[in-house]
Amino acid sequence: MTKEGRKARHVGILISGRGSNMLALADAVRDGRVPGAEVAVVLSDKPQAAGLARARERGIETLVVERTGRTREEHEREIVSALRERGVEFVCLAGYMRLLSPCFVGEFRGRVLNIHPSLLPAFPGLDAQRQAIEHGVKFSGCTVHFVDETLDGGPIITQRVVAVLDSDTEETLAARILAEEHRAYAEALALVCGGGYEVVGRRVLRKK
Ligand code: GAR
Repeated sequence: MTKEGRKARHVGILISGRGSNMLALADAVRDGRVPGAEVAVVLSDKPQAAGLARARERGIETLVVERTGRTREEHEREIVSALRERGVEFVCLAGYMRLLSPCFVGEFRGRVLNIHPSLLPAFPGLDAQRQAIEHGVKFSGCTVHFVDETLDGGPIITQRVVAVLDSDTEETLAARILAEEHRAYAEALALVCGGGYEVVGRRVLRKK
């Protein structure tokens, strides 16, 4: 329930590691910056993901669903049923390092969000910050987008630009992008949970 006594919209967050974006989302929800939302579960495919302990410290339920010994379909089916059992409406991928199959995407169509550390469609896939440095771009940033069947290719909800400095290494650039990721993801989730947008073609437009 929300503070106003309305039924909260449940968010599930999928992680594989550190979980800083997950914490940024959890903090935004706790601080009322994502009105009407509640983080129902943080789920990891890796038992050693550092973010799990950090979620538990905040009183959020955590769950590990390992891929080992399962087919991709079995693994995803188990994740989908864990999310459904908790009434999850919106799924946020936050450093979840697995590609989701069309089946998973179909179960939560238009309600799965991902954050990626580049200005998509530039530099999809792994090591986006290294790709940006090696390509020599002068600006990079981050993108929050809806997940569809393509790799990092769904409609873009929001982006933040970060300048690439001559002195940057992959690590320094990643750190500055990460600070923007935390702000961008909370804003994007608030927009999507609040329903104040429409998707026209590939464009995610704010409702007037
Ligand atoms: C973040 O930079 C996120 O954008 C990136 O992994 C990091 C996870 O950090 N995701 C991808 O590269 C997805 N293709 P976090 O665990 O601290 O949120």
